[in-house]
Amino acid sequence: MATDIVTKEELNEQNLFIQRVRAVTHVFDHKPLAYTHSYGCQQNVSDSEKLDGMLAEMGFDFTDSLENADLVLYNTCAVRENAENRVFGNVGALKHLKEKNPDMIIAVCGCMVQQEHIAERMKQRFPYVDLIFGTHVLHKFPEMLYGIYEKGKRIMCIPDCDGVVAEGLPVRRSDKYKASVPIMYGCNNFCTFCIVPKVRGRERSRRPEEIIAEVRELINSGFREILLLGQNVNSYGKGTDTDFPALLRELDKLEGEFIISFMTSHPKDCSHDLIDTIAGSHHISHHLHLPVQSGSDRILKLMNRHYDSAKYLSLVDYAKEKIPDIQLTTDIIVGFPGETYEDFRMTVELMKQVKFDSAFTFIYSRREGTKAAEMEDPVSDEEKGKWFRELLDVQGELGERAYEKYVGQTLRVLCEGRGRTDEKLLTGKSRQNIIVDFAGGDELLGRFTEVKITKALPWALVGEIIR
Ligand code: SAH
Ligand code: SF4
Ligand code: F3S
Repeated sequence: MATDIVTKEELNEQNLFIQRVRAVTHVFDHKPLAYTHSYGCQQNVSDSEKLDGMLAEMGFDFTDSLENADLVLYNTCAVRENAENRVFGNVGALKHLKEKNPDMIIAVCGCMVQQEHIAERMKQRFPYVDLIFGTHVLHKFPEMLYGIYEKGKRIMCIPDCDGVVAEGLPVRRSDKYKASVPIMYGCNNFCTFCIVPKVRGRERSRRPEEIIAEVRELINSGFREILLLGQNVNSYGKGTDTDFPALLRELDKLEGEFIISFMTSHPKDCSHDLIDTIAGSHHISHHLHLPVQSGSDRILKLMNRHYDSAKYLSLVDYAKEKIPDIQLTTDIIVGFPGETYEDFRMTVELMKQVKFDSAFTFIYSRREGTKAAEMEDPVSDEEKGKWFRELLDVQGELGERAYEKYVGQTLRVLCEGRGRTDEKLLTGKSRQNIIVDFAGGDELLGRFTEVKITKALPWALVGEIIR
């Protein structure tokens, strides 16, 4: 597998641009302020942490106020139409700010503008956007930004390629105890509804030694939850002599107190080896996010998912048998082109059979350039809306009781911050990746503690520390 790795020389060149931007912003009468926002998935959040890292090295501080910003950067998502509409709305709203402050730099990057027709539309509709760049040139952000400061011209950079891996970029982490670590980029699955393979390029895995070194360093510097990221972590390492369970086993051997979680796991590549690895581990989260998308085999086939409901259910059974306290969550799409009410009911039945702890449910959104966009889609939005609400009700009922089994049990909880149910409480995460709130002092932050569960809510647990 040939992976296009950004060379040290190329990264050194970017370091020079970092210094040059610093020299430009140094003569401002104040320290330049950046407002950055990431839409979409954890992968995008992780990219934004790198963009923020580069901005920090270029001399920027960060602000939550658009009015005060010298630079606004939106990292966009293309997965559904409403995600895109939100970005168009928010970029449109910057017009008056740019009029008030013509020196403000406005940049839009990420999955949405990796689509050429959207980038063109963005460029035409919003002449005040200075910089538009795609997902494959993140590491060249300093060079592009310097180009704008130096030449004062708009820049649009959206190379159409299979994608790169850039190691060693600076990172400004948004959480204190939780760190995201991408283990792979891109996707080769081409689910017919999904735009991700088009905007993120081909699947490429980072080398295991790079990942292990990064995770070790994070644990040593106080991070306690490591979230491994990939569109389909189960195909990590394909074409090499390693795979995802092997990577997990290596990470599980590291010294220290920590939890390793991961997303997303595609059912077609989810192996018994993975489940056995989780079951036998010290540190791996007992949470499996396993997007099923549909319970109808006919629709799964049209979606190009490469599994059927029987395979999915047998995987779930195996996971529940080997890891009895596993938390199972999923993604579901309602109203895929050609889906009938009977197909939809099969999804409901599967949902009842599995009893997911929670489910992320979406109404199908047509994405230009995908196979499903060419399929007949006769069901009205109104009808799909009805099915969607029916599904929410079913999951709502299941979710209501999902956590009741924990009442009376003692869970080991990583304490992360102030309470989500009550500011006076602390909040943390159990090994099953469930939110647990409990009373305690700030000295517990970043530490693991035993909590006896006294109450179950649909989305969290409440408990008391065991002394
Ligand atoms: N790589 C992950 C999913 C990434 S996208 C996986 O394969 O599981 C996250 C979720 O968005 C998907 O699981 C799917 O449920 C939903 N999604 C993706 N494209 C969509 C579309 N066109 N319309 C509606 N939902 C979509
Ligand atoms: Fe999209 Fe499918 Fe790839 Fe997930 S696995 S990112 S749903 S194409
Ligand atoms: Fe993620 Fe959205 Fe891109 S879900 S990979 S940010 S299209």
